[in-house]
Amino acid sequence: PLLDPPPPVPALHASVGFAILAFLGALYLVPSLGPTFVNANLKGRDLLKTYDDPIPESLGLVCASLYILLLILFIPFAFSDVFNGQHQSTGKPREGLIINEFPHHQLSVYLSSLLSLLMATMLGFLDDVFDIRWRHKLPIPIIASIPLLMVYYSERGATDVVVPIPLRWLLGSLINLGPLYYVYMSLLSTFCTNSINILAGINGSEVSQALVIAVSVILNDLLYLPWPIGFRIPLHLLGRGAEVDVGGVWGAGMAYGSTVLVERHLFSLYFMLPLAGVCAGFLYHNWYPARAFPGDTLCYVTGMAFAVVGIQAHYSKTLLLFFLPQIVNFVLSCPQLFGLVPCPRHRVPRFDAETGLLHPSTASYKEHAPSRLAVFVLRVLAALGLVRLTEDPRTGAITETTNLTILNVFLLRFGPRREDSLVKVLIASQVAGSVFAFVVRYGLAWLVYDG
Ligand code: UD1
Ligand code: MG
Repeated sequence: PLLDPPPPVPALHASVGFAILAFLGALYLVPSLGPTFVNANLKGRDLLKTYDDPIPESLGLVCASLYILLLILFIPFAFSDVFNGQHQSTGKPREGLIINEFPHHQLSVYLSSLLSLLMATMLGFLDDVFDIRWRHKLPIPIIASIPLLMVYYSERGATDVVVPIPLRWLLGSLINLGPLYYVYMSLLSTFCTNSINILAGINGSEVSQALVIAVSVILNDLLYLPWPIGFRIPLHLLGRGAEVDVGGVWGAGMAYGSTVLVERHLFSLYFMLPLAGVCAGFLYHNWYPARAFPGDTLCYVTGMAFAVVGIQAHYSKTLLLFFLPQIVNFVLSCPQLFGLVPCPRHRVPRFDAETGLLHPSTASYKEHAPSRLAVFVLRVLAALGLVRLTEDPRTGAITETTNLTILNVFLLRFGPRREDSLVKVLIASQVAGSVFAFVVRYGLAWLVYDG
């Protein structure tokens, strides 16, 4: 097929530089601002330690501010080809012709993304300070995603979903989800912002999840850049994936070399590289034994950053594949989140001060007996080995269950272990999830999609 000439990618080098700045900035700022946070009463006790020293909390605010500041400083770099007169407007005839027209659309993509990140930072910080209730904080990310959805709409973003081959006899090859697709995307922002926050509570957990997801997204983006011939990864050989963007480049039957596709993945890289930098710098201070806590701010802002690139660069389904541990943890948590099973304020594992090991923590039925539905759900989970139940020896009624998080499941399956060892298990599961995601996305997609 005829490939477009590779578009220039000058800003990528600058973006790598900004990522290094982000890393060094977080490394330096987090410990130097820690005492200021403690003075402002932003501190927490490490639940899984013997000591009581106050640990500065919500340092995610420092990370988020640094990240957003760098993204703002980067704007002129992202549009540097306009200054050099090299920008070629997409979608116009381009027989060697240089059309020097400002890419307003790309600017609105960039600015609306910043707006969503700022809203996530604000919500996260308010949650840290005021402990917002669940039903109040759930809708806010949905509202924060409206600017993104509007920009998506403005470029006639696809709302069609390609039907897997085995279901085509029933549904045809394409279904247009229309407005439902927008509902899906706004729910994506709520999911991404909250799912990391509920897989939390041991040193290093929140930020290491964000780091592994960011690196996975970066690797995926790199596949789409116009590498010199010879370095290019022939995506069509790997099988074209599920992310068929109708009317876009996939639909046109080109796997790489298209300007639009490159632009989208460059945009994603501009947002993900500094995020990875900030996370790596913060992880150093949050690693066991933690000298700083991320707070909800970090969970929300990283989650929103992923939602932003997934929506704006049109790969939300691939993105969800990188959230496999979070999806499993969310589904497992549902009975507690929606009130079927009691949900204590903290579901983190229980610390045994004598041995220094973590054990699964529990939630107990104190006031009332579990409902029939709850008993059914808990028995099924117990049969699957995901919870351990305690029963009343006389009546056989369930009195206690281990909390429904994958951290507790790891402890149940692999036995009690130290906090730093548990976080390594979590990181390993996140990495394994990403490897699986790449296999599904590029290795297996041809089984169900013909591209
Ligand atoms: C979420 C979880 C909660 C978990 C908490 C831990 C749900 C529904 N909520 O609540 O079960 O216990 O996160 O972050 O799943 N902390 C540590 N070590 C760490 C990180 C945090 O001990 O490495 C403790 C500190 O006391 C810190 C507190 O957790 O002050 C922060 O909890 P917060 O983020 O406010 O809890 P939620 O996000 O509401
Ligand atoms: Mg939290």
